[in-house]
Amino acid sequence: MNRTHTNGEFRLNHIGKTVTVLGWVAKRRNFGSIVFMDLRDRTGIVQCVFNEELTDKVKDVRSEYILEVVGTVVERKDKNPKLLTGDIEITVSDVTIINTSAATPIIVADETDALEDTRLRYRYLDLRRPLMQKKLMQRHAITKAMRNFLDDEGFIEVETPMLTKSTPEGSREYLVPSRVHTGEFYALAQSPQIFKQLLMIAGFERYYQVARCFRDEDLRADRQLDFTQVDIEASFLSEEEFQTILETMMVKVFKEVMHRDLPVPFRRIPFDEAMNRYGVDKPDIRFGLELNDVTTLFKESEFKVFSTVIEEKGSIKALVINQYASITRKEIDALTELAKKYGAKGLVVVKLVNGLIEGPAAKFLSESEKTDLIAFLELKENDLVLMIADAWEKACVAAGALRSYFRDALKLVSEDQFEFAWVVDFPLFEYDSEEDRLIARHHPFTRPKAEDAHLLESNPLAVKACAYDLVLNGFEVAGGSLRIYDQQMQSKLFSLIGFSDEQIEKRFGFFVDAFNYGTPPHGGIAFGLDRLAMIMTHSDSLRDVIAFPKNASARCPLTDAPTTVEEKQLEELHLTIVK
Ligand code: AMO
Ligand code: AMP
Repeated sequence: MNRTHTNGEFRLNHIGKTVTVLGWVAKRRNFGSIVFMDLRDRTGIVQCVFNEELTDKVKDVRSEYILEVVGTVVERKDKNPKLLTGDIEITVSDVTIINTSAATPIIVADETDALEDTRLRYRYLDLRRPLMQKKLMQRHAITKAMRNFLDDEGFIEVETPMLTKSTPEGSREYLVPSRVHTGEFYALAQSPQIFKQLLMIAGFERYYQVARCFRDEDLRADRQLDFTQVDIEASFLSEEEFQTILETMMVKVFKEVMHRDLPVPFRRIPFDEAMNRYGVDKPDIRFGLELNDVTTLFKESEFKVFSTVIEEKGSIKALVINQYASITRKEIDALTELAKKYGAKGLVVVKLVNGLIEGPAAKFLSESEKTDLIAFLELKENDLVLMIADAWEKACVAAGALRSYFRDALKLVSEDQFEFAWVVDFPLFEYDSEEDRLIARHHPFTRPKAEDAHLLESNPLAVKACAYDLVLNGFEVAGGSLRIYDQQMQSKLFSLIGFSDEQIEKRFGFFVDAFNYGTPPHGGIAFGLDRLAMIMTHSDSLRDVIAFPKNASARCPLTDAPTTVEEKQLEELHLTIVK
């Protein structure tokens, strides 16, 4: 086609030029014998003016028709400062209708009141909205900046299989029945974890991949069934050296995509500290409102809730909300419900009014405890105190949920704040009470801290791991670890999480085997690209930065997946459906 310019590029210096542009009709206004149309392409919008002699030719043109317009750029009398091209307009001399459009089921504009499922059903129209185009372009820019950086640093991209072997660790997998091998299944890769480690054993030293991962998870705003990782692995680097490379990458990405300078190094927060101060292992450090540990103040407490918890070596966590004593009963109930949702058994609420500790729970506290509380928390008149007593991690998590609630309720953060932190020194294991066994907190290939290795048998829950998460504004945007590179240690880890020798051999035999042939010390990380893009584009949901996502009930409203299939297909796969 004869296109000379894109629609978003026009400025005053184009005045007088004869141009040919293409695009979709974003808006049509009739002014007597003159017709104005905004013509949109992916770069922006330009106003086109059709004079009397052309109005007949465009009389049927509606929104989303595609036009080719030839005309002259002229200065506008009424400039539109909201539009980048608002200083000019095109006086049309000729127009061709390239294609027509039916009336669209959603309005193709940034502002929309369409339900999300309607947007997803007509995703190609939804993605035509400038806002959505911008988000996907930004996502592209982020991926590109990461690729460029990794390439410059000597990382090479290698693809690994999506159809792979089921390994019973990590999240739930998708299984793919084999047609050729009756009764046998592939699993869709949850991540390239084992393969990237094998690439290190193969001597590649620095690998990355923009990799699709598949996890049969319950969906949340920050989770999808198939999502994208920028997956990275390197040999012969210390934790610190590796993290520095990744920080530098984030600095580059923010500079290139958002023209912002990130201060480095990022804060390193040990897991225990993150839990104690923020009540979560992915702290939002854009605001204060830190948790306080008041356990010691209540050593002698006669309040059953506190004394029981202290006997059981639990903790009491307190959150102080300044000037919030006028809280309503209703809000207290809502906060209590929130705390319970995060596992707390209840919530103690007191406040400082007229110099005295008051509130429904004040009667549970002795005079000296009240005095100590005021001093310890440095309470001021009209401050509100929320306390949760429980096992340490539970108390932290529930109090952390309240902290997040107040971030939003009191608007403590602004959209243009970006605060990264490394959370480091994670525990190697956690206890799974349902299965009554240890499970790997990150994954079973994670290396224990050398100084804790002697505790592996005697006190495994005290062992810390060389594992780290990169956290941005309260989201885990990346997680990784240094890996075990010693065959005996790897076997020991598997057995500690309850695999028999036979199971290890059957599931991971090929992997443990590889450790016999010169495995370099190595480690890696995976960025959740969707999450990073979601935060950087100020989106509320991953779905806004994924072209064709699943909705909250794990369906694709566009294609209607998942669907039933033909009986013949099931037969080929040797499957029967049990209703
Ligand atoms: P992990 O399971 O922590 O680590 O995943 C890495 C990052 O991927 C993102 N992520 C998700 N994003 C969207 N939807 C999901 N369902 C989802 N699950 C995870 C998160 C997370 O930080 N192989 C290891 C990495 C390693 O050790 O190198 C792994 O997959 O942002
Ligand atoms: P109860 O003794 O169950 O009536 O609880 C008395 C008060 O303590 C109520 O306000 C409960 O919400 C609160 N409470 C109960 N259990 C806990 C807990 N584990 N941590 C903090 N507050 C609690």
